[in-house]
Amino acid sequence: MNVTIIGGGYVGLVTGACLSTLNHNVTIVEIFPEKVEAINSAVPPIYEEGLEDILKARVGKNLTASTTYESVQTADAVFIAVGTPPNPDGSANLTYIRQAAENIAEELAKAHTEYPVVVVKSTVPPGTTKNVVCKTIREKLPDLKFGCCMNPEFLREGRAVFDFMNPDRIVIGTADARAADVMHSLYAGIEAPILDVEPTAAEMIKYTSNALLAAKISFANEIGNLCKKLGVDVYEVMKGVGMDSRVSPKFLNAGAGFGGSCFPKDVSALADIIRKENLEPVFLDAVLKVNDLQPLRMISLLEEKIGELTGKRIAVLGLAFKDNTDDIRESRSIPVIEKLLAAGAKPVCYDPMASDAMQKLLPNAEYVATAASALIEADGCLVMTEWPEFTKLDKEFDLMKTRAIIDGRHILSIPDAEGICW
Ligand code: UDX
Repeated sequence: MNVTIIGGGYVGLVTGACLSTLNHNVTIVEIFPEKVEAINSAVPPIYEEGLEDILKARVGKNLTASTTYESVQTADAVFIAVGTPPNPDGSANLTYIRQAAENIAEELAKAHTEYPVVVVKSTVPPGTTKNVVCKTIREKLPDLKFGCCMNPEFLREGRAVFDFMNPDRIVIGTADARAADVMHSLYAGIEAPILDVEPTAAEMIKYTSNALLAAKISFANEIGNLCKKLGVDVYEVMKGVGMDSRVSPKFLNAGAGFGGSCFPKDVSALADIIRKENLEPVFLDAVLKVNDLQPLRMISLLEEKIGELTGKRIAVLGLAFKDNTDDIRESRSIPVIEKLLAAGAKPVCYDPMASDAMQKLLPNAEYVATAASALIEADGCLVMTEWPEFTKLDKEFDLMKTRAIIDGRHILSIPDAEGICW
């Protein structure tokens, strides 16, 4: 099939690349020419495991990128994978979605295949696919016969290629049997259960999945905070709880809280949707509140150990929102570094991949090239990200002036680190 993907961000690029491995002819439309050039030179503009190999194998054959929408004219399926960034009130900003729908309509007006299917991949509030995307196209082209579908992604950053090729499920949100057929054929090479639902249900599945996963983390953190007071290891507790097959042990790792481009944004957006329906998002507000307070517990635990933070040198290990990425969006390190700076402390930060990004955001902290350099003469250490290399740290802690170590991710192997929740 001919597939056009609007948006060459991490979702669009991974989706396009993976669909090309299923032998579809894929064009990724991206406004930034330098990204287009990078993709067409088989150099991934983002770090994602396995992506470079796909680009090397497919670019020049059945995968290409372009700054223009022309390929929409010959596409059997057009995916919208543009950003839906949060507005100041937490609601999803649909500017790029609307723009993409208008541009698609403009192109389809010139030429189109027999029955193009427009597919929303971006995370959008319930109703957007029908009432914004497809409505825009229908209003501009009342005679066009086209399919309309919502097909959410469940990709973890860093493991997105694996997740795309090995999904737990594929959700196809369309009320139109012909569009559903196209979508089933598109994913024919992937072995996974397919759930056919209405577009609005598909939109809700995406938000609800992320909100529930985020809720599991905040729940584990609240229980973890209690366990610490009781002198109980929350990891033992959650192991016992997770052994119940109704629960599953996943996403019950207590720690400094969740970050990233999805969980905080999607939970806030869902809370906003609930408010707009004149309901109160009691539960989701609590999920977010626990997550806001959790990183600050790292600071109070440190203060309990070393007192006033003014003038103290504090090693901050881990800046990315999780391991295996250079992404710092909503990283729990951000409020921690801000708090340290506000208290007059000297944060000395290390991350295997994300130092440059954090330095741009918080230039007043110090950034060093190794964990050992951060620990030299430090009065305290906060471990903020679950980087596997931190498990091997041992003698490096002897470089500290005061051995006050708070582990926010249950990752250290040394015996005297204090856990945030254990
Ligand atoms: C998430 C979802 O997993 C994915 O399905 C969705 O499409 C996008 O959002 P991602 O943001 O890449 O993916 O990261 P994920 O691996 O899910 O971790 C999110 C955050 O939760 C990280 O900050 C991580 O440190 C934290 N986390 C995760 C915990 O604190 N405890 C856990 O048990 C699991």
